[in-house]
Amino acid sequence: MSEVTVTPAVLILLGPPGAGKGTQARMLEQSAGLVQLSTGDLLRAAVAAGTEAGQQAKAVMEAGGLVSDGIVLAILKDRMAAPDTAQGVILDGFPRTAPQAKALDALLAASGQRVTAVISMEVEDAPMIARVAGRFTCATCGEGYHDEYTHPRLGGFCYNWCGTAFNRRADDTAETAGARLAAYHAQTAPLIAYYEGRGVLHRVDAMQGIDMVAGAMSDIVNRVSG
Ligand code: AP5
Repeated sequence: MSEVTVTPAVLILLGPPGAGKGTQARMLEQSAGLVQLSTGDLLRAAVAAGTEAGQQAKAVMEAGGLVSDGIVLAILKDRMAAPDTAQGVILDGFPRTAPQAKALDALLAASGQRVTAVISMEVEDAPMIARVAGRFTCATCGEGYHDEYTHPRLGGFCYNWCGTAFNRRADDTAETAGARLAAYHAQTAPLIAYYEGRGVLHRVDAMQGIDMVAGAMSDIVNRVSG
């Protein structure tokens, strides 16, 4: 009997800062059994570890610009080589430039893969600045909170009773969020047409509530992997 080979899914989430890429990627990890791969998280880990790449990336990230393609691709390739990615990945925040998209195509082609689907998370600009400028996370468990929408328990405790220590990303200020949004429109938004031309683009109204967005995303994932 011949063996059936299942090609792992490569799903890309495209969207400006605050569109909900990380939120939805984490939900899809649970529901679709794919591994979230966030270049933002990988870069922040490199900054925290003080690696050479992290030192170069730090100032660019804090100013809201895009880190050089060379640094991002090296980090991404390294992560893609880990065994857990064999079950399929959700790329959150990558690619962000045309050279990154082409490099991804080449990387996947080398192992007989290609991009399965790209979901463009469509939002209005102004609310995204409020979304990112108000967010913070528990320093212990990473649970997300927001100054306006989602508060910790009375007394400032994390809902998981971790304590009262929280982190805010250095780039989550209204000013830097504006620069990140501008970088998205100038360098990343053109990828929507790139992937539309290749017949893999899907659009989701990401101004809806988190669960509505999750439902629309799951429908797409089920359709492309069915
Ligand atoms: P990265 O970490 O990727 O940040 P980003 O793209 O700016 O996206 P965010 O993490 O801010 O937002 P998100 O879309 O994930 O939204 P979230 O789910 O958190 O990149 C950071 C930096 O690293 C870049 O600026 C760049 O310098 C560098 N970098 C990274 N990748 C790179 C690359 N490939 N090339 C070059 N440089 C790179 O949600 C935000 C908030 O909104 C949360 O509070 C959430 O609870 C809330 N929320 C989410 N969805 C909804 C909803 N539907 N309704 C209401 N609230 C919602």
